[in-house]
Amino acid sequence: PFKKAIRFKGQGQFHPVKYVYGMAKAFESAGGNILQNCFVQDVKEGRILEVQTTRGVFKTKKLIYATHIPPGVNMLHMRCAPYRSYVMAAELKNNAYPEFPAYDMKDPYHYYRTQEMGGKKYLIAGGEDHKTGHEKDTDLPFDRLGSYLKRYFKIKNIAFQWSSQYFDPADGLAYIGHLPGSSDNIFVATGFGGNGMTYSHIAAKVLSTLIISGNHEYENIFNPGRIKPVAGFSNFIKENSDVVSSFVGDRIDMYKSSSLAGLRNGTGRVIKKPGHSPLGVSKDEIGKIHAIDPVCTHLKCIVQWNKTEKSWDCPCHGARYSMDGEVLNAPGTVALASAPTEKKELDDKSAGEKVLADK
Ligand code: FES
Repeated sequence: PFKKAIRFKGQGQFHPVKYVYGMAKAFESAGGNILQNCFVQDVKEGRILEVQTTRGVFKTKKLIYATHIPPGVNMLHMRCAPYRSYVMAAELKNNAYPEFPAYDMKDPYHYYRTQEMGGKKYLIAGGEDHKTGHEKDTDLPFDRLGSYLKRYFKIKNIAFQWSSQYFDPADGLAYIGHLPGSSDNIFVATGFGGNGMTYSHIAAKVLSTLIISGNHEYENIFNPGRIKPVAGFSNFIKENSDVVSSFVGDRIDMYKSSSLAGLRNGTGRVIKKPGHSPLGVSKDEIGKIHAIDPVCTHLKCIVQWNKTEKSWDCPCHGARYSMDGEVLNAPGTVALASAPTEKKELDDKSAGEKVLADK
């Protein structure tokens, strides 16, 4: 039931994975190359850019970061807020699968649509978003999403569930154009706010035209260096004060725990003994302890344990790391330092110091 609704006619619905594979195939048959597992580590600026990656050095005249969020340190990290979003695929008891995709306007919001896979229908529903690293118990959004679904649909079972990340632009509009603070030949497309199917096409058109002819009719609207936000200035202030409070507040009052006591398999926490450096400690499904230095290698906020994804997530700009500290998600480019994993060593007062010394 709803009080008021807006219906958009004439919409297309895409299967994103099939679509992306199709695009990749078309790109390769046109002579393009796609290298996977190739991390950019550094870029030497100049008329010819030298891009240092994990698979060698590449030279190019132009470079576009179409990488979710650009790696390294850039003012766009202060203007994009990282969010986690939750999704479930459910089977219904009564076959009343909705015909159209729909969104509500709640905060946090929800959406749903029908997807057919292998001849079977599923209701895919998502939402319950929150800022990355800002939800203490990441299983709760799934519980809330499940209750929401049960309120409106006859659920037979939840077949799949997963979470993902997106970057919300501070003033509501993506950043597409020249990367601020870099040489003229470096471009970026980011802050798609979960609307990548739409924005990626705008970005492709704007950036290719900018590179070929030097200007595009939308270049000012999407300009990543815009000082005056397009809309929602109060939101801009809010997102940035969140970053500041994660940076300062986390350091002051987050170390509520000073021991490993009660740490269950599949969970993790940051521990801090008085006078010593903090440690991020997690236990995998078989009870093995993994320990890392929880200071994010991007701009030094303290990472938080994400119990759903078994990852360390940074509440400031959304970098994510595995249990053992490997980078999963930019803007971080350097792994978290590992730490001693023996219980005896972790209990040892000097453990925290050892992490920093190893670093
Ligand atoms: Fe910027 Fe962690 S992502 S400090």
